[in-house]
Amino acid sequence: MNKRADSSVSLHPLIADRWSPRAYDESATIPAEDLAAIFEAARWAPSAFNAQPWQFVLGLRGDENFTLISSVLVPFNQEWATKASALVLTNAITFREDGKVNPTALYDIGLAVSLMTFEANHRGYDVHQMSGFDAAAAKAKFPLGAGVEPVTCIAIGKRTSPDSLSEEIKARELAPRTRKALSEIVNITW
Ligand SMILES: Cc1cc2nc3c(=O)[nH]c(=O)nc-3n(C[C@H](O)[C@H](O)[C@H](O)COP(=O)(O)O)c2cc1C
Repeated sequence: MNKRADSSVSLHPLIADRWSPRAYDESATIPAEDLAAIFEAARWAPSAFNAQPWQFVLGLRGDENFTLISSVLVPFNQEWATKASALVLTNAITFREDGKVNPTALYDIGLAVSLMTFEANHRGYDVHQMSGFDAAAAKAKFPLGAGVEPVTCIAIGKRTSPDSLSEEIKARELAPRTRKALSEIVNITW
C-alpha cells in the first residue's frame, strides 16, 4: 500500500513515500548488512558539539532483546509492532562529558532516527516510531548506565497487507495522512 504525501510542492520520493505502517510481514528478516547500514546512518547524523548523545538497543524477532522491548510496549503497540523484524529502544545520553545537562539530546536523537528511517526506507524497510511504552520498565530491563534515558521504541520491518490487522488498527492504516498547512508552520508568503 502506498500513502504518498499529498504535498503542496513536489518532494524527494524518500520523503514523500515515507509513512508509518502497522502491518508487518512476520516472516521478513533484515540481513546484517542492512542492519549495519541503518545504524551507520544514525552514526553519521549531526549533533550539537558532535556529542552523538544516542544509544540504541537492537532486538531481532525471536531474540531476547526483542522479547524484552516487546514487553515494555503499551498493549496497542504490542498488538502490531511485535510482527516487525526488529525492535529498537532508543536512548538519550542526557549529560555532556563535562557533567552538564545536554539540552539538545532529544533533538539530536530525533535527527539520528530520521536518518536511520531514510536509510531503512531506501533499503526497502519500513519504520514506525513509538512513544507508547513504559520507560521505567525499559530502564529496569536494560543496563543503560547513569544519565541514559529511554526515549522511544522503533519497529522496523517489511510492510504487508492491512488485512492482517484487527479492524481498529486496519482503519488507522487506511486513513489518509494529514498535516497542518505550510502557512501554519512557517511564515513564508508568496
Ligand atoms: C516520537 C513518535 C512517537 C510515536 N508514537 C507512536 C505510538 O506509540 N504508537 C503508534 O501507533 N504510532 C506512534 N507514532 C507514529 C505517529 O502517529 C505517526 O508518525 C504520525 O501519525 C504521522 O503519520 P506518518 O508517520 O505515517 O506520516 C509515533 C511517532 C513519533 C515520531
